[in-house]
Amino acid sequence: TITPVILSGGMGSRLWPLSRSLYPKQFLPLASELTMIQETALRVVGDRFAPPLVVCNEEHRFLVAEQLRAAAVRPAEIILEPVGRNTAPAVCVAALRLLAAGTDGLMLVMPSDHVIASSERFLQAVDTAAEAAADGALVTFGITPSAPETGYGYIRAGSGPDGCDGVRKVEQFVEKPDLATAEAYLRDGSYLWNSGIFLFSAKAYVAELERTGPRIVEACRRALAGAERDLTFCRLTSAAFAASPSDSIDCAVMEKTDRAAVVPVDMGWNDVGAWSALWDIGEKDSDGNVAQGNVLLHDAQDTYVRSEHPLVAVAGLRNVVVVATDDAVLVADRSRVQDVKHIVERLRTGE
Ligand code: GDD
Ligand code: MG
Repeated sequence: TITPVILSGGMGSRLWPLSRSLYPKQFLPLASELTMIQETALRVVGDRFAPPLVVCNEEHRFLVAEQLRAAAVRPAEIILEPVGRNTAPAVCVAALRLLAAGTDGLMLVMPSDHVIASSERFLQAVDTAAEAAADGALVTFGITPSAPETGYGYIRAGSGPDGCDGVRKVEQFVEKPDLATAEAYLRDGSYLWNSGIFLFSAKAYVAELERTGPRIVEACRRALAGAERDLTFCRLTSAAFAASPSDSIDCAVMEKTDRAAVVPVDMGWNDVGAWSALWDIGEKDSDGNVAQGNVLLHDAQDTYVRSEHPLVAVAGLRNVVVVATDDAVLVADRSRVQDVKHIVERLRTGE
């Protein structure tokens, strides 16, 4: 069986003012009535899956536990990080837990904050990847790129190994290239985006990380050795885990390993990186507006307007994003929603 490993450590700061550090994006019902972590967990229930492992910051322990309970998902364990050390260590503690429990099956690593429109195609792709993963490959799922995004990993896919339909070797993995490079990759046509979803055996991941980032593995081993267990929670030892280098799975492992493979999949994937993504995937009226909540539009076009509470009325505007909560309102040009991270930074530093 496959153990889903749900990563829930991100802050989603570009979705301010809805997303806050105490209440990040994965805990919000952004794309449906369910929150993103609930959608993620419910995507992987059924015969082929074991109960999920969740790795999150200890600050979010009750949010995670409560949201999974409300979705009737029983996690195998919720691993609590006293500090964030990025995804390479988060995946490593999950892998070590599985190895310690004697479950050297496959692990399906999933961000908790992505939209996948077709669960069916996603699950087919997981099936396609399973054999290669069982043979020791580190498989990622590749998305056909539609723009030179610099926030993604890019994968140059080679040929497939014999007898493994739909699985291709990764010839090159480049995490977050600069714009000129991303543009060149897009023109080249043979690159895919890394979806950030991975399938591999716990053993293969730890073996590769031992080679490429041994200090991470060592810190994770120590953090687990002294971990406190309480019901479904497993709290890593602070000092030991904090001693781990902070690095992503993409840079620490995927860029360096020669065991990487990719399964290209067209599943309506979106990582909801900024408000414009919710306009992209949202249901539009005949003028191209997406309106959510207590909203009134008059002669507006191609807008995303969302209110959690106060009545928000918009007249005569195009291409704007308006998001209102009880205590903050964002108004931005739809092409400038990436700038929200600068606003959040200013709020944080008080400048
Ligand atoms: N538990 C835990 N601890 N989870 C974490 C941590 C951490 O320290 N840091 C990030 N995560 C979670 C986030 O919540 C998210 O669900 C996932 O891991 C990926 O982290 P991001 O920080 O969102 O990564 P990214 O978006 O910059 O890049 C990754 O995703 C892209 C696709 O969305 C990379 O894998 C890229 O290559 C990829 O293209
Ligand atoms: Mg992300």
